[in-house]
Amino acid sequence: METSRRTVIAAAAAAGITAATAGTSHATSPGGKPGGKPVKELFGKLADGTKVHRWSLANGGTRLKVLSYGGIVQSLELPDSRGRYRNVSLGFDNLDDYVASSPYFGALIGRFGNRMAQGRFDLDGKTYQLSVNDGENSLHGGAKGFDKRVWDVEGFTSGSDVGLVLHYTSGDGEMGYPGTLKTKVTYTLTRDGDWRIDYAATTDKATVVNLTNHVYWNLAGEGSGSVYDHELQIGASRYTPVDKGLIPTGELAKVSGTPFDFRRPKTPGEDIREAHQQLLHGQGFDHNWVLDKGATARPEHVATLRDPASGRALKVATTEPGLQFYSGNFLDGTLVGTGGHIYRQGDAMCLETQHFPDSPNQPSFPSTVLRPGQTYRSTTVHSFSAR
Ligand code: BGC
Repeated sequence: METSRRTVIAAAAAAGITAATAGTSHATSPGGKPGGKPVKELFGKLADGTKVHRWSLANGGTRLKVLSYGGIVQSLELPDSRGRYRNVSLGFDNLDDYVASSPYFGALIGRFGNRMAQGRFDLDGKTYQLSVNDGENSLHGGAKGFDKRVWDVEGFTSGSDVGLVLHYTSGDGEMGYPGTLKTKVTYTLTRDGDWRIDYAATTDKATVVNLTNHVYWNLAGEGSGSVYDHELQIGASRYTPVDKGLIPTGELAKVSGTPFDFRRPKTPGEDIREAHQQLLHGQGFDHNWVLDKGATARPEHVATLRDPASGRALKVATTEPGLQFYSGNFLDGTLVGTGGHIYRQGDAMCLETQHFPDSPNQPSFPSTVLRPGQTYRSTTVHSFSAR
C-alpha cells in the first residue's frame, strides 16, 4: 500500500467517516466491517421469484457491494486524498433497472467478452451459431450472458483477505456455446484495499472462453459528470482496429501518431473528437489494446487511470493479453444511476481485461479455446490510491 493511501484511511477513520456520512447517496446497507466477514442481505426478487442478494465487504479502505445477479459490482467506494468516500462505479440502486436496461454495469461477462462476428465460429470442423444480440453479431456472451445469471455466492475471510466466491454452471449449448462450462470467480479485497478477480473455468467439450468484468469507472464519483479529463495510461504499442460493426479487421495497428497512443498518460478528451475513422466507428474509444507484456502467468501492470481533481487513482494488472478501453460512448442520457443522476456519454469508462474480440474467427489472435482436462485461468488486480 502506498503511504498516501494509509494516511487517507487513517484520516477517514479519525474523521469518523462511514458509508452513511461519506457522501454516498445510495441506500446504506449493513456494510461489512473492514477485514470482517462479508455481509449478505436481500436486494430484490426476479420476476420468477428468485431472490437476489447483495454482499457487502470492506478491507484496506475499499468498500465493495456485489450482487448475486450477474456478479455485479453494485458499488465500489474509495476515499479521496482527504478521506472522502465516493462510489466510483456506475450502477443502479434497485434490481429492476439492472434487469431492464443495464449496459452491463459492473457485471461479470461470459462466456465470451466482447464481439463474435455474426455470432458464429468454427471449432474442430463444426460451426456453432450463437445468440445474436448486437446487430448481426454476438456481444458479451449473447442475449442472456453471465451478466444476467444468478450466481451461487459464498463469503470468506482468509488471513488478512476478505472475499466472495461466485459459481455458475453454464449448460451445454447455452447461448449456442458447446460444453458444460463450470465457472468460478473469486473477488478478493486485500488488506491493502486491492480488488483482485480470479477467474477459473472447466468444460466437458471443446469450447471457447473469454471472461471479464464490466465496471464503469468514474474516479470522481458516479453521476458526477464526464471522465474525459481523467488521465489514462495503457502499456500498449498496438491496438486492433475494427470495422463499422466493431469487429476487429485482424490488423494489429501501431498506436504511434494516433489518438490511440496512451503509452504516456493523457486524457481521453484530448483527441476523442479527432476525425479518425476508428473513433467514428466506435463513436469514441471502443477498442482492444494489444498489451506489450502479452499473456503472462502472473498479473502485470498494464494501465493507470487517475482523476486529477480528487486524486483517486486505479492501477490495473492482469494476466490477459488485451484490454478493451470503452469510453462510455453509448451512455445516452436515458438511465438514472445509483445516486439519482442521469448518465450521459463519457460519464464513465470501462477497462476490460480480455483476450481479443472475435478471437475464434481470427487465426492470428491468441487462442481462446478450452478443452476438457484444461482449466481456464485469468487474474486481474485493481489497486487504488489517493494523493
Ligand atoms: C463494448 C461496447 C459496448 C459496451 C456495452 C463494451 O465492452 O466494447 O461496444 O457498447 O460494452 O455496454
